[in-house]
Amino acid sequence: MKDKLVRFGVSLEGELLRRFDAYIGVEGYDNRSKAIADLIRKEFVSDAFRRGEDVAGAVTIVYDHHKREVVNHILDIQHDHGGIIISSQHVHLDHDNCLEIVAVKGRGAQVKLLADALKSIKGVKHATLSVTGTGK
Ligand code: NI
Repeated sequence: MKDKLVRFGVSLEGELLRRFDAYIGVEGYDNRSKAIADLIRKEFVSDAFRRGEDVAGAVTIVYDHHKREVVNHILDIQHDHGGIIISSQHVHLDHDNCLEIVAVKGRGAQVKLLADALKSIKGVKHATLSVTGTGK
């Protein structure tokens, strides 16, 4: 159910507002309200993550599949964290490299544990964790 919109006034220093308008223009917003709402939600997601509350997100890793021990290690860790993994997508980037996107939903601390475990595997060339809200 969509919540009713409420208007409120905000007072900002002129220079801060000019920078904000420039920023949201670059980001593609055509009005301040949506940009402010998104910034608030972004901060709430960060806060939920820090507090260990439920978040959703994606861990993205790149690795060379020729190193079989790396592949096995990645699989072991994903099975160990199966409770928070929604799905994973594997893409063959080129002859050597694989990209894997692991969609997760769970407590912030658990999500971080999984991301850290995957990131620290010797042979994983690159890893990122993107955290977003659960939509609630
Ligand atoms: Ni592959």
